[in-house]
Amino acid sequence: MIQVSNLSFGPAANPILQGIDAEIPAGRVTALIGPNGAGKSTLLKLIARQLTASSGRIRMDGMDLAQTVPAQLACKMAVVAQHLSVASRVRVRDLIGFGRWPHSAGRLGVADHAAIANAVELFDLGDLQTRFLDELSGGQRQRAFIAMAYVQDTDWLLLDEPLNNLDLHHARNLMAQLRHLTELQGRGIVIVVHDLNYAISWSDHVVALRDGKVAFQGPVAAAATAERLSALYQTPVAITRLGGQPFAQYHR
Ligand SMILES: Nc1ncnc2c1ncn2[C@@H]1O[C@H](COP(=O)(O)OP(=O)(O)OP(=O)(O)O)[C@@H](O)[C@H]1O
Ligand SMILES: [Mg+2]
Repeated sequence: MIQVSNLSFGPAANPILQGIDAEIPAGRVTALIGPNGAGKSTLLKLIARQLTASSGRIRMDGMDLAQTVPAQLACKMAVVAQHLSVASRVRVRDLIGFGRWPHSAGRLGVADHAAIANAVELFDLGDLQTRFLDELSGGQRQRAFIAMAYVQDTDWLLLDEPLNNLDLHHARNLMAQLRHLTELQGRGIVIVVHDLNYAISWSDHVVALRDGKVAFQGPVAAAATAERLSALYQTPVAITRLGGQPFAQYHR
């Protein structure tokens, strides 16, 4: 479990996150939702230790994250940021190989190559693996970074807007892969997502942020009601069922 306790970030007079208490279950897919500027990426960066909280505490599977060293963290969680910086002259396959660093210390062995090949297949990168990152489309590049995080083979995977740029085939494929990872391997996954239908039909759990605070959280079916989602986004959201799945209607 990721346990966030009384977490705040930013100047006291104008905090970006304030008094966040959240519990993110292990071995499940959790959607982190909320309007632009709510603090989703900031919370993810605090969990990833890319930022330091002004107060509060984060525990991951009982481990106080403030007390861990980077090498420990790299074996515990993999992170894909919302804005990917591209080292231009890196090939897709080499980028994915970087994800094996915590295991291989730079010398890729048989198991590492097998993990890379598996990721290439899972994320449909076969035709792209020898291409340079700066010669890819936005969605192709996004998939390469997700594959790099995947091969890190960590208990936790934190993905900030992984569906950004993905066409509907690759978006659905990614969500299916993430579900497999939780169901077959028991990995905990946190995704920031704006498309409510991906959030409510593929996630187990939801944490909703608004104005730097938790608006609501809990198991999706119970927590993500039409009333709460409408209030969260200040936009009418209706929830119906379609093909046995919840369906959010908010486009018009
Ligand atoms: N480096 C920074 N310095 C100052 N303020 C920042 C910084 N980064 C983000 N903020 C502010 O913090 C707030 C939360 O930003 P954050 O990026 O966490 O939002 P978000 O929920 O991820 O939004 P989005 O859906 O647009 O990605 C916003 O008001 C933003 O303007
Ligand atoms: Mg963001």
